[in-house]
Amino acid sequence: MPELDRMDAIVSLAKQRGFIFPSAEIYGGFRSTYDYGPLGALMLRNVRDAWWNFMVQQRPNVVGIEAAILSSPKIWEASGHLAGFTDPLVDCRSCGSRWREDQIEGVCPSCGSGDLTESRDFNLMFKTFVGPVADDAAVAYLRPETAQGMFVNFPLVQRALRLRPPFGIAQLGKSFRNEITPGNFVFRTREFDQMEMEFFTPPDLADRYFDYWVSERYEWYRTLGIPASELRLRPHEQDELSHYSKGTKDIEYRFPWGFGELEGIANRGTYDLNAHATHSGEDMTYYDPQTGERYLPSVIEPAGGVTRAMMAFLLSAFDRDEVGGEERTVLRLSPLLAPYTVAVLPLSKKPELQAVAEGVFGTLSMEFSSDYDATQSIGRRYRRQDEIGTPFCVTVDFDTLEDKAVTVRDRDTTEQERIPASEVVGYVRSRLNAVTRPVATVFG
Ligand code: GAP
Repeated sequence: MPELDRMDAIVSLAKQRGFIFPSAEIYGGFRSTYDYGPLGALMLRNVRDAWWNFMVQQRPNVVGIEAAILSSPKIWEASGHLAGFTDPLVDCRSCGSRWREDQIEGVCPSCGSGDLTESRDFNLMFKTFVGPVADDAAVAYLRPETAQGMFVNFPLVQRALRLRPPFGIAQLGKSFRNEITPGNFVFRTREFDQMEMEFFTPPDLADRYFDYWVSERYEWYRTLGIPASELRLRPHEQDELSHYSKGTKDIEYRFPWGFGELEGIANRGTYDLNAHATHSGEDMTYYDPQTGERYLPSVIEPAGGVTRAMMAFLLSAFDRDEVGGEERTVLRLSPLLAPYTVAVLPLSKKPELQAVAEGVFGTLSMEFSSDYDATQSIGRRYRRQDEIGTPFCVTVDFDTLEDKAVTVRDRDTTEQERIPASEVVGYVRSRLNAVTRPVATVFG
C-alpha cells in the first residue's frame, strides 16, 4: 500500500475505532489538538507502562517522579528556554499565513508567494497567569519539556533516596509547546506526552553512557514491534544542537512522509545543573562520601514522545492480508501495546451462553485488559478485534456448556486452540509471558 494511503488508513481507523479523535470536533475541531478515545487511552497507558517498566522498574538505579506542569519563570530563565526556546517565524504578506522559516524554502506553502516578512524569534512556551491578578509577578509557564523537573529536584531526590551517581530520574507527562506549524496528525501537536529520563553520571563515564542509552532506547522501539528497516540513528550536526547539548543522536522512524524524530538522546553535560546552581544560589553538586570528591554530574538524556511513539507503533502494525478469501485489516501490535489483550465472544446471545461468557470475562478482566463483544456474526467480531489489534479472542460456544472448554483464536495466525475454560487465565498469561519484551541490559 502506498505510504500516504497507509497514513490516511491509520487516521481513519484511529477515529472510527476510538483511538484518536480531533478535539472539539462538534465545534469544528481545535487547532491540531486531539482527544484519545477509549482504545487510545488504553494504548497510551500501555506505551507509558512499557517505558516505565523498562526505564524505571527494571533498573535499581533509576527512580521516577511527577513534577508540576505549571512552573516558575525562574526555571525557564535558568534553563535558557525563555531566551532561546524559539523558532524563526515568518508571515506571508500575500495571504497572512505564518510559517517556520526553516521549514519552507522562501516561498509560502499556502499561496506560493515569495513576499515574506523578515524572520523573528517566536518563543514556543505557553504563558499564563497564576492567581486572579494578571501582572508580571503572576506569570507562569506550562512546561515545554518534563526534563527541568528532574534537574531542579536533583538534590532533593538524591538525598531522599541516598543515590550515588550514576543514577537516573525519570518522568512521564504532558508538555506544551506553541508550535508554529503543528501537523502530520499527532506527530507534532501543541500538547503532547513525553517520556524523559535524566541520567546523572560522573563526567568520565558520560560518553560511554551516551552510547549505552542510544542502544537501549533503539532496542526498546525494536522489541516493541518497529522493524530495524523502519528505524535509523542520526547524529545531530553541530549547528542543529539544542542550546544545552554537547551531542545528540536521534532515533528516527520512517513516517509515511519520510524519516522523522521519535526520540533524541542528548549529552547535556553539566549545563542544566550549573545553570540552576547559578540562578538559584543552591548547591547542585554531589558529594561522594566514599572518595571525598564534590562534583557536578554530567547528564545523558533519552527524551521521547509517548504520543509520537504510539503513532509509529500504529503505523508499523498496520497490515492488510487475506483470511478465508476475504481481505482483512489487522493491527499486528505487540500484545504488550494492544488496547485489549483478550476479547471474549459468546457465539450467540442465548442467556445460558452469555452467563458462561460473562464468567470467563470476569476472570480474565481481573488480570488483562479485556473486551466483551456479543453482537453480529462471529466472523465480523473477529475482524473487528483484528482491526484493533487484540491478540487473543476467546469464543464460548454451545459445546462449552457440555465440555467446559473454550476456543482461543490467535490474531496473527488465525489458528484456533480448544482449552479448558478453567485454564484460560493461565493460558493467556503464558502466551503473554512468551512475548519478547524490552529487557534492560547491564552497562559495561
Ligand atoms: N528534554 C529534551 C526535549 O524535550 P525534544 O527533542 O524537544 O527534547 C523530545 O523532545 C521528544 O518529545 C521528541 O523526540 C518527540 O518525540 C516529542 N515531542 C517534542 N515536541 C513534540 C510535539 N510538538 N508534538 C509531539 N511530540 C513532541
